Amino acid sequence: MKKEEAINYVESRISHAKRVEHDSEYRKTFSEVFDDSTIMAIYALMSRGYIDIVDFPISTGKEGNVFRGIDKKGNNIAIKIYRIATSNFRKMALYIQGDPRFRGVTKDRRKLVYRWAGKEFNNLERMIAAGVRVPRPIVQRNNVLVMEYIGTQERPAPLLKDSDFDPEEAYRFTVDSMRKTYKEARLVHGDISEYNILLNGDEFVLIDVAQAVHLKHPSAEELLVRDAKNVARYFGKLGVETDKDKILREVRG
Ligand SMILES: Nc1ncnc2c1ncn2[C@@H]1O[C@H](COP(=O)(O)OP(=O)(O)OP(=O)(O)O)[C@@H](O)[C@H]1O
Ligand SMILES: [Mg+2]
Repeated sequence: MKKEEAINYVESRISHAKRVEHDSEYRKTFSEVFDDSTIMAIYALMSRGYIDIVDFPISTGKEGNVFRGIDKKGNNIAIKIYRIATSNFRKMALYIQGDPRFRGVTKDRRKLVYRWAGKEFNNLERMIAAGVRVPRPIVQRNNVLVMEYIGTQERPAPLLKDSDFDPEEAYRFTVDSMRKTYKEARLVHGDISEYNILLNGDEFVLIDVAQAVHLKHPSAEELLVRDAKNVARYFGKLGVETDKDKILREVRG
């Protein structure tokens, strides 16, 4: 199939593409995310049945956009697309260099973003194997990552920061996740906060694991201490009796 036909096909499967015609602000975001190479990656995933429809945007973040999608069997999926044009390359390079899983450096920005998406996929796999509740990874191709969708048919699960919850329960989930991530997955999340935990009904789900580093990474310990500090500060304010050292003791076992 010619590239143009592939692009037309993919655009016909993006529910909100019509909005592009009469919303100039939206058109800008749209063309930033769906550049030709991203469209071709989505096309490849569509021909294999991983994606049938790109439904609606859930979030427009600094580095990537997350969409609710539907696969060929009709299941909901979450599609995270890292933007090539506006990614934080310096940060990505710092987190990738020093990780034994990624030997060799790259100055190619596009390849760096692909590795970043691959790193998130691998981190999700390792965390699932360690029994951490994160979205189940489904497939990754270039800058496109497909994973389990967390939410209901009507709406994606809200962030912890926008939810009502029992602080002790949320704290328990967070520290248990940190411990399993450290002891079993041999990773440090590196960005644990009320912005990266979803509350789906009564289930907590940890997300946004692209930056998680291997314990062999030179910054792993520093990131662990920073996570512990942030978690202690946040849950301390909610009345949970904890501090950074208590968390570190529990995580390191
Ligand atoms: N698997 C999922 N199911 C449902 N919603 C999700 C899923 N993954 C991410 N989201 C939603 O998309 C948002 C952004 O995802 P994530 O935190 O992984 O990306 P990010 O790159 O950190 O974006 P940001 O810059 O906004 O933090 C989340 O806050 C959440 O609302
Ligand atoms: Mg996030």
